[in-house]
Amino acid sequence: MAARRRGAALGLCATVCLLDMAFCKGFVEDLDESFKENRKDDIWLVDFYAPWCGHCKKLEPIWNEVGLEMKSVGSPVKVGKMDATSYSSIASEFGVRGYPTIKLLKGDLAYNYRGPRTKDDIIEFAHRVSGALIRPLPSQQMFEHVRKRHRVFFVYIGGESPLKEKYIDAASELIVYTYFYSASEEVVPEYVTLKEMPAVLVFKDETYFVYDEYEDGDLSSWINRERFQNYLTMDGFLLYELGDTGKLVAIAVIDEKNTSAEHTRLKSIIQEVARDYRDQFHRDFQFGHMDGNDYINTLLMDELKVPTVVVLNTSNQQYFLLDRQINNAEDMVQFINNILDGTVDAQGGDSILQRLKRMVFDAKSTIVSVFRSSPLMGCFLFGLPLGVVSIMCYGIYTADADGHGDERYEVVRGEAGGPALPDEGAGQPEPSGADPPAPAAQEPKDVLEKKKD
Ligand SMILES: *[C@@H]1O[C@H](CO)[C@@H](O)[C@H](O)[C@H]1NC(C)=O
Ligand SMILES: *[C@@H]1O[C@H](CO)[C@@H](O)[C@H](O)[C@H]1NC(C)=O
Repeated sequence: MAARRRGAALGLCATVCLLDMAFCKGFVEDLDESFKENRKDDIWLVDFYAPWCGHCKKLEPIWNEVGLEMKSVGSPVKVGKMDATSYSSIASEFGVRGYPTIKLLKGDLAYNYRGPRTKDDIIEFAHRVSGALIRPLPSQQMFEHVRKRHRVFFVYIGGESPLKEKYIDAASELIVYTYFYSASEEVVPEYVTLKEMPAVLVFKDETYFVYDEYEDGDLSSWINRERFQNYLTMDGFLLYELGDTGKLVAIAVIDEKNTSAEHTRLKSIIQEVARDYRDQFHRDFQFGHMDGNDYINTLLMDELKVPTVVVLNTSNQQYFLLDRQINNAEDMVQFINNILDGTVDAQGGDSILQRLKRMVFDAKSTIVSVFRSSPLMGCFLFGLPLGVVSIMCYGIYTADADGHGDERYEVVRGEAGGPALPDEGAGQPEPSGADPPAPAAQEPKDVLEKKKD
């Protein structure tokens, strides 16, 4: 009876859902302490949230849709959410350290979801991770089917071997990112030539690459480097993920809405280099474009002119800016080769000086953004202390004239210079750095937490 009502409800939901989001909540189970005991026989996709967290609230309607879709496609994966602040001991047992944390729980294993928080991405993750770790490809048709479906996937070719053990190990860790298959030699297309068996291959960008233990090192880290397409539409999240690869990332920074030739040209030059010089550069380089310079400016602490090209070294945070006009793919290749042979100067990095610059930059952008969004507030927050400091300085100056100045000057300057603002250059508020608990300063921490899980 209950099941039938549920079935009918499902049929209706697609339409009703649009009218009434609350209705969809029925497909996401609200979990409590009994979850620890009851979950054992099932696979669960759980959103650990905190009632006060903004990102969690944004995720909620998406999560409801995920619940509905998983139900309507008949997935064995159950969808739930848990208030991690009310059931904090359970949440911490599952390793929840930030909010929201999305995990797929399967037996003893807990897989973290780290991708973009969209319905399709989350559902793809759930399907992938809940299924077999390594899926056999029994026929050429199956291979073709998979090749059309997935932009990047890995295939093990051969029988039982130590390499297969390593492949299974790597897959159990990296299944959260990508697909793993196994096949016999007959199944892969004829254009694939294998010098050795067994072998691990990655298929992507209309070609394939073979893992070479001597050149590529550890299998897991090779997979981690190769799991991205050669050319990508970059955003902050992706750049952060690419940080693990240690590769150099060449990005055309453009304004996608600007249809002028200059913008489209730079993008297609990078695309061309990515495609035509793949064999030469794919081991060390990742290519792509980014819409707008906001993110990259924050990253580089620089004001980039758009359109331009920037090359980031993800292993040491250094970057390279164009020192020439890029008119065609050959110019770009020349630029890349000069970066590789060390004739283009690197900028940035993660030295102490850079970190100091980062602190000042963050504080400065906070002040600028406060002034931009509310000049009055800005005047109050930064002008008032400045005013007070000026008055104090004036006081000191007059006191100084009294003759007892020297001692008192020292003391007062010590106080004013610490928590508030510097006592010089009243026209230009340059903060001392430690002061504003800036939203800008919190962002990287948020990402870091997401990453660490
Ligand atoms: C498009 O880009 C060109 C060249 O960078 C620039 O001069 C122009 O103002 C931009 N147009 C718009 C609509 O932003
Ligand atoms: C990128 O950084 C790594 C680590 O510091 C360094 O070994 C490598 O030479 C750098 N690459 C370039 C092109 O500067």
